[in-house]
Amino acid sequence: MSRYFKAEIRENRPVHTVHNLLTLNVPLSMPEPRPGQFFMVEVNKGTDPLLKRAFSLFRKTAQGVQILYRIRGKGTEILKDMKEGSEIEVLGPLGTCYPLPSGDTIPLIIAGGIGIASVFSLVEQLSGRATVFYGARTKNDLLMHKELKGFAKEILVSTDDGSAGQKGTIADSLSAFLSRPQSPTPKYRIYACGPHPLLKIVSEIAREFKISANISMEEHMACGIGACLGCVVRTRDGYTRVCKEGPVFEAREIVW
Ligand SMILES: Cc1cc2nc3c(=O)[nH]c(=O)nc-3n(C[C@H](O)[C@H](O)[C@H](O)COP(=O)(O)OP(=O)(O)OC[C@H]3O[C@@H](n4cnc5c(N)ncnc54)[C@H](O)[C@@H]3O)c2cc1C
Ligand code: FES
Repeated sequence: MSRYFKAEIRENRPVHTVHNLLTLNVPLSMPEPRPGQFFMVEVNKGTDPLLKRAFSLFRKTAQGVQILYRIRGKGTEILKDMKEGSEIEVLGPLGTCYPLPSGDTIPLIIAGGIGIASVFSLVEQLSGRATVFYGARTKNDLLMHKELKGFAKEILVSTDDGSAGQKGTIADSLSAFLSRPQSPTPKYRIYACGPHPLLKIVSEIAREFKISANISMEEHMACGIGACLGCVVRTRDGYTRVCKEGPVFEAREIVW
């Protein structure tokens, strides 16, 4: 089944000062994307930048496939100016997905900043089962918070400046949540996406509390299909490709 297709931009609108929501009309032949998977998206018709850029599946709705992206450098600067009706090349859905929790397991979903883009569709799929720990720098950086409320059981917000929720990091809030006396202790599974330091701390917390955890790693990617070895990370079994064997890994596999 081909994962290469041309998609028409249905909408490409700002949702924040440096974030856009891109909606793509995709062909019916595209394999169904699953939470955690990603797409390699053409950001330029010319040669600079030449390479496609990696973006997580944010949501798939009746309108199409949605990508929530931060305008960061050359590629996303060009992408943000692409107009409705333009056609772009896309490769995907690619990579591994978040394994769904068993029926008696409470999913704890950790989103740091733009990491919300990767876990949003998981929260949506788990409709009302997930407790979400959502962290950002300030209240204004909590993207899609209102939309998330419709799908989560509970959202525990942390901001660096205390302008919303707890002041501090979501790792602190996760740790405090798990340290509460509970009898019997519920069965949890952790899912996380965000900056590397956050993923490392979440992995340590998961180990401390003996909870299975899946984390989504975001390395620089060139090909996205396992050919260039540009995205490798160190695991307990040696170096492995984030685009092919990931981006979703068991947290205990990663060597930090
Ligand atoms: C599997 C995967 C899923 C992703 N999902 C999303 C998403 O849903 N939304 C989103 O906004 N971004 C996502 N990213 C990151 C996104 O690919 C980069 O932000 C994008 O490629 C930047 O392109 P650019 O040309 O604008 O920036 P560049 O000019 O290439 O780089 C600008 C700056 O961003 C840094 N940077 C670029 N790519 C990465 C990366 N992968 N990790 C860390 N730093 C990086 C560079 O070092 C540089 O400092 C994802 C990355 C991966 C690997
Ligand atoms: S990006 Fe080329 S091997 Fe992963």
